[in-house]
Amino acid sequence: MKSRPFVFINAAMSADGKISTYERKQIRISSDADMKRVDELRASADAIMVGIGTVLADNPGLTVKSGEKNPTRIVVDSMARTPVDAEVITRKGGPTIIAVSKSALHERVEALREKAEVITAGDKRVSLPELLGELKSRGVNRLMVEGGATLNWGLISEGLVDEIYVYIGNMIIGGESAPTLVDGTGFVDPMKLELLSVEQMDESILVKWRIR
Ligand SMILES: NC(=O)c1ccc[n+]([C@@H]2O[C@H](COP(=O)([O-])OP(=O)(O)OC[C@H]3O[C@@H](n4cnc5c(N)ncnc54)[C@H](OP(=O)(O)O)[C@@H]3O)[C@@H](O)[C@H]2O)c1
Repeated sequence: MKSRPFVFINAAMSADGKISTYERKQIRISSDADMKRVDELRASADAIMVGIGTVLADNPGLTVKSGEKNPTRIVVDSMARTPVDAEVITRKGGPTIIAVSKSALHERVEALREKAEVITAGDKRVSLPELLGELKSRGVNRLMVEGGATLNWGLISEGLVDEIYVYIGNMIIGGESAPTLVDGTGFVDPMKLELLSVEQMDESILVKWRIR
């Protein structure tokens, strides 16, 4: 048995591969039908994970409307920068876990610990393999990752992702500094994907891939 959960990334991007604008502000790419699909997908997961960049940019609450149980919410945040009044902490929903590194300031960690659970993994940056192992041991078998671009790279480049679901909206966002589905340093040898399905949703498409 794998010592980590089944991990899938779900994201919405423009036809040119951007997941938000160059201002890094959240932009509505998904249709209503896709929002409903994402909500159901969240409800099917034991936990939802985002990077601190997404929390600071979008302030998501990460709750579900469908389903009876809210999944656990996890923020990957090496330096414990998550604001204590962030929606991911204050909005009524599943339990919140802030994953920090050993380099996070003690005071910041303690302030977060009053409001959420804190897991320490890694020295300077959160060690994603260690964190996923810890989550698995706590009963997280199905982990949904909702970005952003840097966390997606961190997980993919470490071989920690099983499937990727991408809603490709009928729009162009442009901008060389706008975040894409996967940022980071990039591969010299591209990672190969196996196509699972393609579905048209109005004038957009939903593509599902498996990482080989
Ligand atoms: N369209 C969509 O589906 C969608 C979904 C989500 C987000 N977004 C957009 O994506 C943008 C945010 O993306 P982002 O790339 O700036 O931030 P991000 O991926 O949400 O968070 C990245 C941060 O996570 C932390 N981190 C800790 N350990 C890490 C590790 N091992 N590997 C990778 N990251 C690690 C790092 O900060 P520390 O070192 O300080 O911890 C890193 O800077 C926003 O514009 C948001 O609107 C779009």
